[in-house]
Amino acid sequence: MSFQVKNNIYWVGKIDWELRNFHGDEYSTHRGSSYNSYLIKEEKTALIDTVWKPFAKEYVENLQQTIDLEKIDYVIACHAENDHSGALPELMRHIPDVPVYCTKNGAKILKGLYHQDWNFKVVKTGDKLSLGSKDLIFVEAPMLHWPDTMFTYLSGDEVLFSNDAFGQHYASEFMFNDLVDQAELFQECIKYYANILTPFSPMVIRKIKEVLGFNLPLDMICTSHGIIWRDNPAQIVEKYLEWADNYQENQITILYDTMWDSTRVMAEQIAAGIREADHEVTVKLYSLAKTDKNDVITEIFKSKAILMGSSTINNGILVHVAALLEEIQGLKFKNKKAGAFGSYGWSGEAVRIMSERLTASGLEVMDEGLRITWAPDEESRQTCREYGKVFAGRLE
Ligand code: FEO
Repeated sequence: MSFQVKNNIYWVGKIDWELRNFHGDEYSTHRGSSYNSYLIKEEKTALIDTVWKPFAKEYVENLQQTIDLEKIDYVIACHAENDHSGALPELMRHIPDVPVYCTKNGAKILKGLYHQDWNFKVVKTGDKLSLGSKDLIFVEAPMLHWPDTMFTYLSGDEVLFSNDAFGQHYASEFMFNDLVDQAELFQECIKYYANILTPFSPMVIRKIKEVLGFNLPLDMICTSHGIIWRDNPAQIVEKYLEWADNYQENQITILYDTMWDSTRVMAEQIAAGIREADHEVTVKLYSLAKTDKNDVITEIFKSKAILMGSSTINNGILVHVAALLEEIQGLKFKNKKAGAFGSYGWSGEAVRIMSERLTASGLEVMDEGLRITWAPDEESRQTCREYGKVFAGRLE
């Protein structure tokens, strides 16, 4: 499969409808994904990025139906991560002398991954590569999403090849943003941002402002995953600026795990208390043992505050809660408030442990948390509702 993107630009990637986990098992992909590779056939021919290794042979065979590989003058590796470079060894076996354009870090990582001494041409921001009447212009974009990442801009066609940035794990035969279900598209965009780009938000803002400062006209953004932004591509740039700026909605998310239902009952009673105090706020509850981790992280990203609940077990916290706390620490959320709660039988350390870990992760823990013993009776339920009311009140 290949199709024309614009003028002499062709998509030659792979749509992966089966993919349900990405980065190993680290990221859930409910709607599959795509690995986008682009062929630009001007006076000179350039190939931008490849696909993941399981599809390497299929990719090269497909590419051969679009072009004689000997006619490829330049390979552009915007990002060395495996999902975009995995087919390079198979491709370069056919065209070993063709130069591979990438950043300094890109060359280092590609050598580290594939142990090949390809004809690397290291580029920096502002460097140009002429394809004849049009130029490729390179812009380094470190940490979007690895230290090696770069954007590539094609003059004349006014197309930005942004690699991971502005992408989504979203398989669609339509491949253009104006043709797909907008709710699905933006859900996958925000999930992608929340789970992958949150820690790099300051760099996202700096890089977008730098690129906008070049005053380059922009007709399309060709990402490396999901759809191509051809209808109002600025809309996703504006969304990124919003998401990168300590984004939050009027939402409180309650995340818990429970052994014998007591902590679940607490979660529901606290939610009822929040609703009593604030009719406007969205309150969502998730059992961490039963909910996809990446969906939960997306909800945290949207929240102004979170409440985390765990029973106490072996003087500690339940494992699903511990796993999420590890993720929260790494994602470096900013400007979020938090609280902790849980039921216990005799020792009751869970609330203190969760509060300490939330504080260490940069969340503002609002109080000492709420503990109850054994199963909540009516008095304890009332205490939970009161706790929810006071918590909501403190956010106003
Ligand atoms: Fe799609 Fe950072 O790789």
